[in-house]
Amino acid sequence: MVDNIVDGILISFEGIEGCGKSTQIVMLAERLRGLGLEVVVSREPGATPLGQELRKLLLDPAYNPDALTELLLYLADRREHCSRIIRPARARGAIVLLDRFIDSTWVYQGFAAPAAAAGATRDAVSAKMIETLNRLVVGSDWPQLTFLLDCSAKVGLERARRRNLETGAVGVADRFEQRHLDFHEQVRAGFLRLAEIEKERFRIVNAQQEIDGIHDCIWREISNRILG
Ligand code: TMP
Repeated sequence: MVDNIVDGILISFEGIEGCGKSTQIVMLAERLRGLGLEVVVSREPGATPLGQELRKLLLDPAYNPDALTELLLYLADRREHCSRIIRPARARGAIVLLDRFIDSTWVYQGFAAPAAAAGATRDAVSAKMIETLNRLVVGSDWPQLTFLLDCSAKVGLERARRRNLETGAVGVADRFEQRHLDFHEQVRAGFLRLAEIEKERFRIVNAQQEIDGIHDCIWREISNRILG
């Protein structure tokens, strides 16, 4: 039961742009809080003051860093996030819900990065390097459970476009949203590949269904694996 939660639990949400992670995290957090549990909602990049500066830079369409610089900036954001937010929250016994974490790096800076997608060997960044650095940066803060909200790139990008319209962010698609549909399909394929490799940790949820249906799938898993 709920009392079994001794050390804080780390749950990450991953997926392509517009897959609905943020909406689902808010719904899940509210429901868990309704049970009297402490829930910390956080995201990458940008959860800390340093992270906010890095996020601005990393998502700026005008910024075009080399592959290794980009990787190191995401990892610097992560290290700060782990030490200032995630670790203290877990030490208090909180449930931490993360909007993107280690797997986004493996996919965006590795699997789907333009040179890798073209089949070329990236001179600066390899999957092995990402794995090693991710482990170094997060230490014991490895997620117990990761939800992959899976939808087609077309559906995701359309949702992201609508969200930008609704929030008044018209015409300000970030550096990643601006990329071609093929890139986002490659990102989707990367997440699915990871989920296949790490079957125990990942749960794939069909994100093309209604919002409540997605939440039900997530809640069922949380009830069985975390609260059960
Ligand atoms: P968001 O819009 O979902 O907050 O994500 C910000 C962007 O940052 C998203 O396009 C994916 C990208 N990203 C990476 O490329 N590598 C990473 O390690 C993380 C956490 C995000």
